[in-house]
Amino acid sequence: AHANIGVVGLAVMGSNLARNLASREGNTVAIFNRSYAKTQGVLDAHPEAGFIPAATYQEFADSLQKPRTAIIMVKAGAGTDAVIDELVKVFEPGDIIVDGGNAYFPDTIRREKAVRATGINFVGAGISGGEEGALTGPSIMPGGSDESWVTLGPILRSIAAVAEGEPCVTHVGHDGAGHFVKMVHNGIEYADMQLIAEAYDLIRRGTGKSPAEIAEIFAEWNRGELESYLIEITAEVLRQVDAETGTPLVDVIVDQAGAKGTGAWTVQTALSLGVPVSGIAEATFARSLSSHPEQRAVAGALPGPSTGSGTDEFTVPADQVDAFIEDVRLALYASKIVAYSQGFDEIRAGAAEYGWNIDLGAISKIWRGGCIIRAQFLNRIADAYAETPDLPVLMTAPYFAEAIGRAQAAWRRVVVQAAQAGIPAPAFSSSLSYYDGIRADRLPAALVQGQRDFFGAHTYKRIDKPGTFHTLWSGDRTEIEAEDTH
Ligand code: 6PG
Repeated sequence: AHANIGVVGLAVMGSNLARNLASREGNTVAIFNRSYAKTQGVLDAHPEAGFIPAATYQEFADSLQKPRTAIIMVKAGAGTDAVIDELVKVFEPGDIIVDGGNAYFPDTIRREKAVRATGINFVGAGISGGEEGALTGPSIMPGGSDESWVTLGPILRSIAAVAEGEPCVTHVGHDGAGHFVKMVHNGIEYADMQLIAEAYDLIRRGTGKSPAEIAEIFAEWNRGELESYLIEITAEVLRQVDAETGTPLVDVIVDQAGAKGTGAWTVQTALSLGVPVSGIAEATFARSLSSHPEQRAVAGALPGPSTGSGTDEFTVPADQVDAFIEDVRLALYASKIVAYSQGFDEIRAGAAEYGWNIDLGAISKIWRGGCIIRAQFLNRIADAYAETPDLPVLMTAPYFAEAIGRAQAAWRRVVVQAAQAGIPAPAFSSSLSYYDGIRADRLPAALVQGQRDFFGAHTYKRIDKPGTFHTLWSGDRTEIEAEDTH
């Protein structure tokens, strides 16, 4: 037994993670896959890794030093439970089972509880960065016990991406905390992608620029405050020409966005927690809307603002094109601040609900490298939480408040133009509504309370005195003190 870490599941993510582990000083990696042919294939393809192959779970367990540590890299769902069941049979108390898949955090909470009963540690770890990140350095979000972190910490630090000298991994919190944070990471990823897509669409339809020309705009933006991996790859995608037709690839890709569920989980969880993640929700719904060709086929006949139906004309006058593009850039930046502010709000609320002690500043730091939403911008979030650890609304931190203040006129112009031209910009506009809602002195929620009290005696509070009240709407309409029913 001389491997200090094992990997179960050798599809691309698993084998890349195993190779990453093997390439770091001090690691010897045991590998196991349900079909041995795959194990043999990985072994043959990467002799330099010095992998210790195992044909059975027993052999796998025997090849690991104690406390045994294994990372499961299989498709999230029933497969994960099956592997856990097998590992529990051959592992001993004190050993550590890590699930590195995109598990839904309530599953992780359930699994952690069940495995803990055997004395074995179970760690749900979010891993971001795709196949490339798994191989060269991902951002890692592990949950689980403090005991497991003692062994696991150095191993995960050895393979994580490094941002400004710091490894992109931190012990997020107990049981499902890691997968919760990875889930929100993905929700923010959805919002970021949708905002970029809306910016592209507005520029293309407003200025008639080609995808290649817009690629240059994104490349330019990537040198400023929007610098991020997603902006960088957007330029690459827009530059790509289809070999078969000679047209921009983006024009031959079917305009129906897929989703594997993490965005929807983020929104569902936010709904139960009562956290308005409207930017993430709009991004998730935008994918759903795109993916109903049968509805879009009939809805294409609906009238738009200028033409008969379908796509409308929208032309920015030639002398205003540069100013319009700058407006879109600022609208994107402001909306992005809102999306991150909402995402961190969800983490804060999740931590309170599930009893996790999550350091929000540390989360922003481990997202600076390796993951899909990596960006310079995350340094500013880290600064904000360093200054005020219990900041209730991230975007009220001075840096972000100033940035939104600077962007706000442009942001409003872009939302107005999109609405007038009939171009959907759900993430831009809902972010702006959130911004105006959260900063409002007074909201029409007062009227909603009045309506609720009218039809259901749901009661209300008064601004001028304590207590709970109800108006006798179907009686003489006097007010009485009432039980608080919310
Ligand atoms: C990551 C990604 C990764 C994956 C998403 C894609 O952080 O590396 O988020 O987890 O690419 O699951 O999600 P959709 O298929 O739902 O877009």
